[in-house]
Formats: sequence, structure tokens, C-alpha cells
Amino acid sequence: MERLERVDKPKPDAPTLKLNFTPETRGGNDIVRCKDVGKSFGEKSIFTDLNFEVYRRDVVGIVGANGTGKTTLFRMILGEEPATEGEMWVGPTLKFGYYTQELEGLNPDNEIIDEIWELRPQQTQGEIRSFLGKFLFSGDDVFKRIGNLSGGEQSRILLAKLLLANANVLLLDEPTNHLDIPAREALEAALAEYPATLFIISHDRYLLNNLATKLLIFDGTPGGTANLFEGNYAEYIAQQQEPKENQQLSENIQASQPSQISPQKSKSKSKRKRKIKAQRLVGSN
Ligand SMILES: Nc1ncnc2c1ncn2[C@@H]1O[C@H](COP(=O)(O)OP(=O)(O)O)[C@@H](O)[C@H]1O
Ligand SMILES: [Mg+2]
Repeated sequence: MERLERVDKPKPDAPTLKLNFTPETRGGNDIVRCKDVGKSFGEKSIFTDLNFEVYRRDVVGIVGANGTGKTTLFRMILGEEPATEGEMWVGPTLKFGYYTQELEGLNPDNEIIDEIWELRPQQTQGEIRSFLGKFLFSGDDVFKRIGNLSGGEQSRILLAKLLLANANVLLLDEPTNHLDIPAREALEAALAEYPATLFIISHDRYLLNNLATKLLIFDGTPGGTANLFEGNYAEYIAQQQEPKENQQLSENIQASQPSQISPQKSKSKSKRKRKIKAQRLVGSN
């Protein structure tokens, strides 16, 4: 069977990931409120003075240099780490799905099929295999041991598990790092259709351009802060054309980007439904 890894230049009929994230329940309208929130580990201040609110169906792109506390913020939203200053409120009826930067949450001893079957024990093997087919695991692939898989394959399994979580808030920590271009496009397309709330930590400018309706920008100084920009990435960049106090933020966002992809021009204001494919395939100049 044709496998994703081999598809350098996808033909129109090449197999692609078909993802569809569907929340089980709608959840409340208020997702997260931060008032003067700070976080320290012992003596070490990670960030301070976070003040922002997130509502249902926001897509919050989170950017900033490594070590500024982006992953820590996710763990705080999930209740795994307490705020050490201020007040952080998280909606009580939310169902979170978390994709970790380190691809945590897989049992390396499991075969792929078992990793998924455990989540849907009532389904038949045929149903599980057909579901895995959407993630481009077919034939004997499904019996591979997780521990022997590449990062890209593990990433696809994590996305499969995330999909089965039927979350109404997704926290994605650098979700495209291990994915090749067709898989990134498929993920972006699925997320664009996701009818709930998304937080995405990413250096992938395309992903942010296509999806984010708000940006949380970590300023990149130790013990610094992060500011919420109430607009999408293109609007943010446009605002940066006028040099003002936000100049520093612009430098930080630029510094946080790897240079593999050049900036995109502003697109229409429709935030969720964008032509992702054309941009990525054409825009690799
Ligand atoms: N459990 C922890 N104990 C102590 N320090 C931590 C812990 N978790 C993260 N840190 C530190 O907090 C800082 C921010 O980490 P992290 O949130 O992973 O940053 P980012 O995701 O933005 O790269 C780093 O200096 C990291 O070493
Ligand atoms: Mg991180």
C-alpha cells in the first residue's frame, strides 16, 4: 500500500488523512480567564501578569521563544500545575483533548491496533482497521509496535486518539512538528472545521495564518509576560507595520519562527475556511 512518508509531491488522488474532530458535548461559553496570573517554579519566575479571556470557538495561536512557558500554560489550563500568582479560572464542563509536544500518551509496547481498540472495545477489528485506514495505517501496518514507529507515525496515532476523545477544547502543543506536508494540510483542514475551541502552540506560520483568531504572544524574556492580540496573524502583522510599542512583540514573534517558510500575505477575514493547500504548495519560495 502507498504510505504517506513516500509521498513527496502528492498527486490529486494520493491518500490523505481524513480527520474529523467532533465534540461530544458543546460545553460552556467561557473557557479560560486569567487575571494577573503568574507562574514560578521555586525561585524561578516563568511568566507573570497574564490577563486574557478565551471564549468558545476561539482559536488561540500561542507563540514565543522556547522556555517562555507555553507548555506550562497548557498544563495549568489542564489543572496539572497551579498558578502561583493571580487567578486562573477554567470552565467546569469542558472536555479537554491534549496533544503533547513530546508525543506522550502512547504505550510503546502496544501494537497500533490495540492502542486504538482500548478506546473503543465494543468495536470490531474491521471497524478499528477501517478507522486506522484514515490515518494511513493499512494492512499489516496496524500490527506494528508503537515503540518501533517513526515520529510522524506516532504523531498520527496521537491524532487518532485525540479524535476519539471527542473533546470540546483541544490543546495542541506543536502538533505539526513531526508531520509531513500532506499530513499537515489534512490536520489544518480538520481543525478548520472543528466546531469548538482550540489552543495551538506552534511555530508553523501557515497553521497560525489559516486558523488562529487570536494570538497569545509570549514576550521572550525570563519572568516576562504574554499579551493577547485580538485578531488573526495577518492582522497582527499588518499592525506591526506601524512601529509603535508593539514593535518588541513583532520581533519576538519573528524570532520564534523557524525560517523554513516565508511570511504569508493577509487573506480574507473569514477565519475558519481557508485554502490551505494552495498556499503551502505554492508558497515555498
Ligand atoms: N515541572 C517543572 N519544574 C521546574 N521547572 C519547570 C517545570 N516545567 C517547566 N519548567 C521550566 O519552565 C520553563 C518554561 O518551560 P515550558 O513551559 O516547557 O516552555 P515552552 O513550552 O515555552 O518552551 C523552562 O525553563 C522549564 O525548564
Ligand atoms: Mg513547550
